[in-house]
Amino acid sequence: MAVRNIRIIGDDILNKKSKHVDNMTDKIRTLINDMLETMYNAAGVGLAAPQVGILKRIVVIDVTEEGNNPIILINPEVIDEQGEQTGNEGCLSVPGKIGMVTRPEYVKIRALDMDMKPVEYEGNGLLARAFIHEIEHLDGKLYVDKVEGGLYDVDELKEGEE
Ligand code: NI
Repeated sequence: MAVRNIRIIGDDILNKKSKHVDNMTDKIRTLINDMLETMYNAAGVGLAAPQVGILKRIVVIDVTEEGNNPIILINPEVIDEQGEQTGNEGCLSVPGKIGMVTRPEYVKIRALDMDMKPVEYEGNGLLARAFIHEIEHLDGKLYVDKVEGGLYDVDELKEGEE
C-alpha cells in the first residue's frame, strides 16, 4: 500500500465526472488499498478516487474515531434520503477550511463491494454527510459550491474558541 498525492481545489480533475467500474482488477484493488491508506494518513473520514487523480466511481469512508470500520463503495448510488442536517463540512482537497452545508439526515446507498457484489448501507448524521459528499466527488462536485455563509479557516476557528 502507498499514500497517494491528494489533488487540491483548482485541479481540473476534481470537476470531472468519474466512470463506472466494470471489473475488479489487481490495479483497482491496489487503488482502493492506497485510497484507504491515504485517507487514514490524512485523518480524513472519506476519500473519492478523483481526489487521487483517478476518474473511477470508487469511494472509501470511515467515520469511526478508531479508524477501524472502512466502507468501500464502487459505483455508489443514493437510493433514499430523508430529513435534513446543517453542519460544518470539510474536504481533504480543500485543506484547512470548513463551511456549513445542509445535507440529508439519513441516506441509503447501493453500491458494489470489492468482490463486485451488491451491497446497501444506511447512514445518519456524519455517515450520511460523508456518503453524499463523497458521491458528489464522483460527479465533479465540491462542497464549497454549497456552503452557506462562506468558508472558514480551521485554525482561525480554533483560536476563536480558546
Ligand atoms: Ni471531499
